[in-house]
Amino acid sequence: MSERFYITTPIYYVNDVPHIGHAYTTIAADILSRRNRMAGKEVFFLTGTDEHGQKVAKAAAEKGRSPQEHADLLVGNFRNLWSRFDISNDAFIRTTDEGHIKTVQGLLQRLWDLGEIEKREYAGWYCTPDERFWTEKDLVNGNCPDCGRSVDRIQEENYFFLMSRYQSRLIEHIEQNPSYILPDTRRNEVLGFLKNNTLGDLCISRPRQRLAWGIPLPFNGDFVTYVWFDALVNYFSATRYLAPHAAQAGQGYFWWPADHHLVGKDILTTHAVYWSTMLMALNLPLPGNIFAHGWWTVEGKKMSKSLGNVVDPHAIADVYGVDAFRYFLFREMPFGLDGDFSEDALIRRINTDLANDLGNLLSRFITMAEKYFKGAIGLPASAAFTVDEQEIESLAEQGMARPEFKPDFVLDFIHANIETRTERKWRELRFSVILEGIWSLIGEANNHIARTEPWKLAKTDPEALKTVMYNLWNALRLIALSLYPFMPGTSVKMWKQLGLRAMEEEIRQSQAERPADDPRCYARIFYWDWRPSYDMQVAKGEQLFPRIEKGKEKKVEKSVAAAEAEKTAALSNLITINDFARVELKIGKVLSAERVKKSDKLIRMQVDTGEERQIVAGIGKTYAPEDLVGRKIVVVANLQPARLMGVESNGMLLAATGSDGIPVILMPEKDVEPGSRIK
Ligand code: ME8
Repeated sequence: MSERFYITTPIYYVNDVPHIGHAYTTIAADILSRRNRMAGKEVFFLTGTDEHGQKVAKAAAEKGRSPQEHADLLVGNFRNLWSRFDISNDAFIRTTDEGHIKTVQGLLQRLWDLGEIEKREYAGWYCTPDERFWTEKDLVNGNCPDCGRSVDRIQEENYFFLMSRYQSRLIEHIEQNPSYILPDTRRNEVLGFLKNNTLGDLCISRPRQRLAWGIPLPFNGDFVTYVWFDALVNYFSATRYLAPHAAQAGQGYFWWPADHHLVGKDILTTHAVYWSTMLMALNLPLPGNIFAHGWWTVEGKKMSKSLGNVVDPHAIADVYGVDAFRYFLFREMPFGLDGDFSEDALIRRINTDLANDLGNLLSRFITMAEKYFKGAIGLPASAAFTVDEQEIESLAEQGMARPEFKPDFVLDFIHANIETRTERKWRELRFSVILEGIWSLIGEANNHIARTEPWKLAKTDPEALKTVMYNLWNALRLIALSLYPFMPGTSVKMWKQLGLRAMEEEIRQSQAERPADDPRCYARIFYWDWRPSYDMQVAKGEQLFPRIEKGKEKKVEKSVAAAEAEKTAALSNLITINDFARVELKIGKVLSAERVKKSDKLIRMQVDTGEERQIVAGIGKTYAPEDLVGRKIVVVANLQPARLMGVESNGMLLAATGSDGIPVILMPEKDVEPGSRIK
């Protein structure tokens, strides 16, 4: 087993308001990082933000900021969220970092020198908001197949990465490395796609005059690099300037390749196909695994700003706490499948699993420990436990030998490096199954109390009581350890209430005394017979998870929460009077109008707005060109020129969209001179 562990999340668009989907991937990476640190590995956990591209440039312009200022302002949304959610990332990369830009340029130059990039004349349909080219046959009703918006015909020179060269090598790699893409359904999807289609080459440049906010190509400064080429490289570039040992690594690769790239299923192709082939062309090793997890919906619907159902993780944490949310996300939906988020389901999990099973176990134990032993849990005098009392110890230590015991996860802490079933579950990222295992130990511990009835033993058999209590203490201690990756805050609280001191520190110290006679064990702290060097004093602390009483649920106001998040993100929909003043609205008079060839939607008009200009508008399904001539309309006069189906448009006319989706043109109520300002 390697002693290093490198894991990444996607770098999120800095423009996005972070929601539970982003939190999901990042918490998953945190769970794996914590788990691997516990196992004594040196971990590098990377997350960050994707800051170049049209969307950022456009949003910044709308706010009257430079793209860099805009990104600097918004990046805080992600940083704050991660610190609130106990995310233990070792580095945070921004694609506007100097070190990243240099690495991207270095790799581009290398590909260029190797002849892996070629300049070509290119004509295609371009979706500006998505920053993607499409071929004629990709289009759906003449629009972008992804977002449904109109596309522009663009003809220009561009640079292409010769991705098609790597099609068969990629198929071979995926076939020979079954865990390269997980889960299996996604792996099969990618293989199916690669076997049934011819892989094209990838356009990796954008002319600077069209998109200035990007990394210039090192071999031609008139072009910037395509956002995905820039973004994917982050995983590698961070190892060169952000990671520990980056400086010493020299030309060697201390951290590369990553063990896991965690991504959502939406961006599997870019990772499995673009990134893999880029690495092949660069002669860099491929990552160990790309895991594409499923999609969260909210009460059955896709999360979207316009539906107002974006779940703000801050609001959830305010009401229910960080750990309840972390637990819920990974218990409720198997990693890899899709799931639905609802507050009702979250409340159910809190009341049953967290308050009832876990919280009660701890508080019953502590009440008894204080009552019977004044909090001092000692080692039982006799090591010879009766079979019944051995139950919990067996569960913990002999899970493998006795497969009827479900919680073999504990074994994993004890004989950590062997091929236990739990170890395999961790490798396959089956978080929900691992949590189920922990909950069967919690269940067993609760049963143990019911079976042994310590309150009776207190009167009849003090020695037996001591044994029962010691076993419960130990089970709770191992439960706290095993919950640590999922709920670090709760786990540390449990540790303290069990009379122990500083959990993370004690794990580290214990790793140093890794038992020489048992190479399978990470650290002595995972042994059943581990005890601290000091006398532990069990003491009641705050309740871990108070029950949420029926009728008293505090519902998170999703729309309010989303609005709040937007406010903190400085992305509020409210604009200032100055923002509005930047929009130049004018009265225009339509001088002539005709349909744009091959389009049933677009009409090209010559409009007098004080000066004559050409405007193209998508109103052709409801208005005939001849009906428009002579009409007065409202025009956005200072809009950047755009090309619609190859025809230049200098401005935009205003129209309302009725409930039937039909555009209705705005016209002044009385006659006004063309060119009049609207304020
Ligand atoms: O795609 N359910 O960034 P992004 C689950 N910048 N996960 C979700 C989710 C949902 N409903 N919504 C988002 C980008 N995610 C690029 C990535 S990487 C080199 C560049 C998570 O801000 C999930 O991990 O759109 C998804 O892949 C990611 O957020 C997309 O984040």
